[in-house]
Amino acid sequence: MKKVLTIAAAVTFLFACNENQEKTNEQPSLTTGKSAVIFYSQTGTTALVARELAKQTHAELVELQMTTPYPSTYDSTVSAVRIERENKSWPALQKARFDLSKFDTLYVGYPVIFGTFAPPLYTFLDSNELSGKYLVPFCTYGSGGRKSSSRELASLASNARSLLSFGISKRRVLSPNTDLTKEIRNFLNLVRAGIQEEERLASFGDSQELSGKDSSVFASAVKEYAYLNLQPIRVAKDSAGTGFLFSCRMRAFGAEENVTVQVFKSLSENGEAELIAVEK
Ligand SMILES: Cc1cc2nc3c(=O)[nH]c(=O)nc-3n(C[C@H](O)[C@H](O)[C@H](O)COP(=O)(O)O)c2cc1C
Repeated sequence: MKKVLTIAAAVTFLFACNENQEKTNEQPSLTTGKSAVIFYSQTGTTALVARELAKQTHAELVELQMTTPYPSTYDSTVSAVRIERENKSWPALQKARFDLSKFDTLYVGYPVIFGTFAPPLYTFLDSNELSGKYLVPFCTYGSGGRKSSSRELASLASNARSLLSFGISKRRVLSPNTDLTKEIRNFLNLVRAGIQEEERLASFGDSQELSGKDSSVFASAVKEYAYLNLQPIRVAKDSAGTGFLFSCRMRAFGAEENVTVQVFKSLSENGEAELIAVEK
């Protein structure tokens, strides 16, 4: 009997070792390996995030610059990007190819444009081999697009090991109430802990019908986003009472679809409700 128990204990121990081993193999070498933060930014928002990431990870900072930058107005950039996307003809960069051999981890950053990453990133992906690298996408956006853009990045760089992505709205990057240093530190801790996308919202409970208070939190968070025509249906809340995940219908850009709208509202009565992201 004693022998059986000893074997069982050894098997348990071996399984535990294997599990730890696998977990260790999955962990990015963010603390030991060399990293680069490679980014494109049209109007400087993504650059602010890139600099903070590089500071915290001691990474080399590489800015992708277009040979002919996009025009300075929103509408003319929309037209230029539309033509690029229709023709799948990606913009030339001042420098497109890099010696990435010394880097283990690449933080790749961009503004979300038309729901995915900005076109200069296609040029970068077409020109470089990312095989075997840990890839950490990060982005800034008007309302959202982190998930869809990082999914596309992972599928185009399928030989890289894509990890969790970071996203933040331009409004929040520029707000004096946002502690970007802390948000990036928290994000890096999630990456280092090997947290997966689906575990990220684990602190939210089951979805419920909206109370009057939930509706007013929602209305306050989306007041600057009337163009998205968001209709809240149900809400899940986190255990801290500050996180709200609204399931919504969105009627915008010629389509009607289901989206989630993540909102933060501090516990203080006069704290503003902030829209974190609209995601499909
Ligand atoms: C042509 C164009 C298209 C955009 N498309 C989206 C979009 O689909 N979703 C979104 O949330 N924001 C969109 N934005 C907003 C940008 O992602 C946002 O302003 C970003 O923070 C700009 O980053 P940058 O200052 O680093 O260039 C778009 C901006 C432009 C100019």
